[in-house]
Amino acid sequence: MSSFENYGFVVWLTGLPGSGKTTIARGLERELKVRGLKFEVFDGDEVRKNLSKGLGFSKEDRDTHNKRVIYVCKLLTRNGVNAVVSLISPYHSTRAYAREQLPRFVEVYLKCSVEECIRRDPKGLYKKALAGEIDNMTGIQDPYEEPLNPEVVLDTEHDSSEYNIQKVLSKLEELDYI
Ligand SMILES: Nc1ncnc2c1ncn2[C@@H]1O[C@H](COP(=O)(O)OP(=O)(O)OP(=O)(O)O)[C@@H](O)[C@H]1O
Ligand SMILES: [Mg+2]
Repeated sequence: MSSFENYGFVVWLTGLPGSGKTTIARGLERELKVRGLKFEVFDGDEVRKNLSKGLGFSKEDRDTHNKRVIYVCKLLTRNGVNAVVSLISPYHSTRAYAREQLPRFVEVYLKCSVEECIRRDPKGLYKKALAGEIDNMTGIQDPYEEPLNPEVVLDTEHDSSEYNIQKVLSKLEELDYI
């Protein structure tokens, strides 16, 4: 039996802005609550208002922002608390570091074309980036490095959120984490 049997899991949602990370995180929150599990949700926008206040969108700042979340997840998970993380987390190296630090790491890639994200543009950020008013937008000027070997790939362009939420839960069941 693994020595990490009492550790919490971390569902790490990564994808372009507008790919549906917050939407899927909210759905997972609802489902984990129903199951009475102990967990915290770390959503990029919320984390940037407190833990990462003052940080911007350079590679270095994005890394610092993500690594703070990884650190807090490390503290929680070793005490048996689970976590749902929804961060763009565009870099392979940062996600690889998260995998290294967190024993029950479940990387979930929200696959959605940049064209569809631009159509959705839930915060109007793509519009601003395309108009040259923002210059660090992931998918426009900044890179998004697609996960190479995630535990789960969600096609958020074609499959419904409910279907995708169930898909993550099935993976957690399969791994015996829930
Ligand atoms: N199948 C789907 N899965 C998820 N979201 C969808 C889907 N179809 C349409 N949407 C819509 O796409 C938008 C996704 O926005 P959301 O805020 O969840 O993205 P995000 O990845 O959290 O973006 P950001 O990185 O900017 O925070 C929402 O308005 C959601 O309702
Ligand atoms: Mg979001």
